[in-house]
Amino acid sequence: MNQIYESLLSRKSVRVFEKRSVEDSIKEAVLHAAFQAPTAGNQMLYSIIDVTDEELKKKLSITCDNQRFIAEAPLVFIFLADSRRWMDAYEEAGLTARKPGAGDLLLSIQDAVIAAQNAVTAAESFGLGSCYIGDILENVEEVRKLLDLDAYVVPITMLVLGYPEAKQKERGKPVRFEKEYIVHENHYRRLTPVEHREMFAKRSGSETFDYDEYMRKFCERKYMSEFSLEMTRSSAVYLKAFLDESEEE
Ligand SMILES: Cc1cc2nc3c(=O)[nH]c(=O)nc-3n(C[C@H](O)[C@H](O)[C@H](O)COP(=O)(O)O)c2cc1C
Repeated sequence: MNQIYESLLSRKSVRVFEKRSVEDSIKEAVLHAAFQAPTAGNQMLYSIIDVTDEELKKKLSITCDNQRFIAEAPLVFIFLADSRRWMDAYEEAGLTARKPGAGDLLLSIQDAVIAAQNAVTAAESFGLGSCYIGDILENVEEVRKLLDLDAYVVPITMLVLGYPEAKQKERGKPVRFEKEYIVHENHYRRLTPVEHREMFAKRSGSETFDYDEYMRKFCERKYMSEFSLEMTRSSAVYLKAFLDESEEE
């Protein structure tokens, strides 16, 4: 197996980091790899906030569902889907370009996430661990103020990075669903009730897997949880603000 493939297969999220900081040269190399990711029209429709202020890290660890490890991460990068920079650039050229719309937003989200994943893979190659923080979508009102965002700049994901503590390296990687439930040929197909049960049972690796109990607990703990409801509310505010701004005369 080649090294890149091996790294993609073995990579897992890291949430506990050694106290040592990440060398500037490695941080620069990780960011540089993010910039080399594919990007729509070579526009780089994203910006990255490098969070170096420890107080800000602490505040973000609270707004992101009180995940304390965020405050302790040596590196914290926030990937913003950024339609503002190109709007301003058009304006600077004296153009009256149309306002960014839904397509631009979705494209910029793709750009931001692809760049983030390049950073993850590059970080891994330097022995750094990382974890995505989806909860950056929560608490829009506070996050906007903390980061000085406007309606065309949406924080899509956050990455925390650092050297993994030994125990994190030993932790097993969560098993994925099997290909037959994920890849469809030529058109989308809803899974049957039996397939749903099989898919989870196979992933659990246990012959006595209790589907109904697992689903009940997962739904309660994740999907219906306070943080998930807040993420849904907050994300809708970002979307509405973006689309309202683009519809304004
Ligand atoms: C979009 C996204 C959001 C995530 N948000 C969080 C988060 O807020 N907190 C956290 O601890 N892990 C978060 N994770 C990490 C996932 O929990 C993790 O990737 C998943 O459980 C699979 O484990 P693995 O990455 O170790 O293979 C997130 C991952 C992704 C891709």
